[in-house]
Amino acid sequence: MNSSISPELHTDPRLHAGVDVYAVAGNPISHSKSPFIHQAFAAQAKQKMHYGRLQAELPSFAQTAKAFFAAGGKGMNVTIPFKLDARNFAEVLTSRAQLAGAVNTLWIKDGKIHGDNTDGAGLVRDLLAQGIALHESRILLLGAGGAARGVIGPLLEQAPKCLVIANRSSTKADELVSLYADLAAAQEVALESRTLLDLEDSVVTPHPFDLVINATAAGLEDVSPLTAKAVSNIFVPSSFAYDMVYGKTTPLMQQALQRGARVSDGLGMLVEQAADAFLLWRGSELAAAIDPRAILAQLRS
Ligand code: ATR
Repeated sequence: MNSSISPELHTDPRLHAGVDVYAVAGNPISHSKSPFIHQAFAAQAKQKMHYGRLQAELPSFAQTAKAFFAAGGKGMNVTIPFKLDARNFAEVLTSRAQLAGAVNTLWIKDGKIHGDNTDGAGLVRDLLAQGIALHESRILLLGAGGAARGVIGPLLEQAPKCLVIANRSSTKADELVSLYADLAAAQEVALESRTLLDLEDSVVTPHPFDLVINATAAGLEDVSPLTAKAVSNIFVPSSFAYDMVYGKTTPLMQQALQRGARVSDGLGMLVEQAADAFLLWRGSELAAAIDPRAILAQLRS
């Protein structure tokens, strides 16, 4: 048995003869809720499949993924820190994955590895399901790494009034503004970059935001990317703060709550991006058979 596939996590396709095998790859991965979510979709849509966790070691994502598909694996979700590696591993990319430069869903078709990014669509669907209006809204996206890259396109497609990308260092945010300039222009969205420090300056940041999305890794580290000064410029009671981290009230969510704003963690995004991956793998005709909001309610209970 190839040592790149962890047999204890039951992800080796050869252990599941006659059943299509899928996995989520990341590091760390033991906390992942993706197996629960995908098995729940499979039960709803009456699909016979197995979905496990695959811990890839840091320098060898490609080796792990290659071994999984070579052994008969059908599809893979990819999470922190491998979304850029997955983009490089895929041989065929959807246009949204190409633009984002990050992949969270892989599958094999006609002998080729395909890659897509369903994160942004998942975020947008979760926000809309929570009653958050995106059209004509003022959105602040915190962070300019892999997590932020995946959601910019789908946010722009909702035609907000403006999308400000703020990052600790300006270079990466500037790059993203250049990358998405054409789509922003086509959607008539004012797309701008800021540093996190700029957010403290009420001249540079004169208006509060309707929606603030935290796509930095700060939530994982239990710190907020926003200083108290920035918080007072950004949030008003009608604001909504969304943290892509799930399972806790993050420091950013606490700051927003203190300003009277509403908040959400990223559990709904996790379920919704998984729904898109499931439909890519098993067929879009199953859309009517799955109920992501029911699975989300189960996870929250
Ligand atoms: P991911 O794929 O999760 O987005 P990443 O590509 O390493 O991971 O990007 C992490 C993002 O979180 C970056 O925008 C990073 O800011 P820098 O580009 O300035 O490094 C941001 N980040 C990480 N820790 C942070 C912190 N404590 N405060 C603010 N931003 C933070």
